Amino acid sequence: MDEIVARLFSWYDGHCRDLPWRSTRNPYYIWISEIILQQTRVAQGYDYFVRFIERFPTVEALAVAPEDEVMRLWQGLGYYSRARNLHHAAKWIVSMGHFPDTYDAIRSLRGVGDYTAAAIASFAFDIPKAAVDGNVCRVWSRVFGIDEPIDSVRGKKLIVEAAQALLPVEQAAKYNQAVMEFGALQCVSRNPDCTVCPLAHKCMALAQDRVEGLPVKSHKVKVTSRYLTYLYIHTDEALLLHKRTADDIWKNLYELPLVETSEPIGAEAFFATEEFSQWHKMLPHYAYRGGVEGVKHVLSHRVLHATFHDLEVQGVLPSPEGFVLVPFGELHRYALPRLIERYIQVQKNDNNTSNMKRFV
Ligand code: ADE
Repeated sequence: MDEIVARLFSWYDGHCRDLPWRSTRNPYYIWISEIILQQTRVAQGYDYFVRFIERFPTVEALAVAPEDEVMRLWQGLGYYSRARNLHHAAKWIVSMGHFPDTYDAIRSLRGVGDYTAAAIASFAFDIPKAAVDGNVCRVWSRVFGIDEPIDSVRGKKLIVEAAQALLPVEQAAKYNQAVMEFGALQCVSRNPDCTVCPLAHKCMALAQDRVEGLPVKSHKVKVTSRYLTYLYIHTDEALLLHKRTADDIWKNLYELPLVETSEPIGAEAFFATEEFSQWHKMLPHYAYRGGVEGVKHVLSHRVLHATFHDLEVQGVLPSPEGFVLVPFGELHRYALPRLIERYIQVQKNDNNTSNMKRFV
């Protein structure tokens, strides 16, 4: 075994966190944990994993669940395509009769890329494939002083080759866990404490004083702005929701009736729009309970600028086609984007708009 790996293993033996997906070989559990951890930190993902496994203890249970329930359990984690893909793949696995047990078959599951396939294959089946995620890229780009951008084909290939070359075939699972843990706890992006690093004497980045400069990334994610005006149309007992179905953010989640504009729009201009006038005509008598403007909600590729208008309907609220009238007591059954959930929570708890500062 390479000295680097031996040092990594003894570091791992002393530092690894006791995480539920590490003490199992059940490929279903491992799959769920890896999908959750794709874009989510362990601290946030842990409870979601426990709840998910409790509610859907087997791939069969997940396959037969209503999609709304799967989405609801995912609420707050973001990147909701992960939940839709999990659900789709669960049905496929059940139709195949067993969990895929080769790298290629695992890789072909919807929502599973190279990294996740290698992680599942090694953790559940000891398949000797190096799993290379962001943490692993950081570790090997520093140790080997690789300054090709890690989001370029060439840079990624160099790292994957380095990671694969070091992998001890009999201990693929431990190796992948150890490098990932090392990246998460020791070789961190900002201000790593290299004085206690077991690989310090082997680290090119440290020798060349380039630790903070590696890894290199070429593409900055382009962030676009979107302008959303929501109508909180409700009575004492119920509110109107709409399910997003387009291939866009929050597909299959529920939100308040929305008007999206290409530019920011003030309240007066909004009330003069055709869309608002349609609502105005359709609703029975209502009271305007105030608006909240300038709520900023940041997603990975988008900044959402949201405005909310609270319209309290007196009498019977109709639910137009495409909308559902949901009693407040039933809201917990609906998967809502965090932006919407927080707004509703604040409105319900305290109908004083000055408190929206807490929300913003
Ligand atoms: N991030 C991705 N996969 C992980 C795992 N198995 N353990 C800890 N963090 C992870």
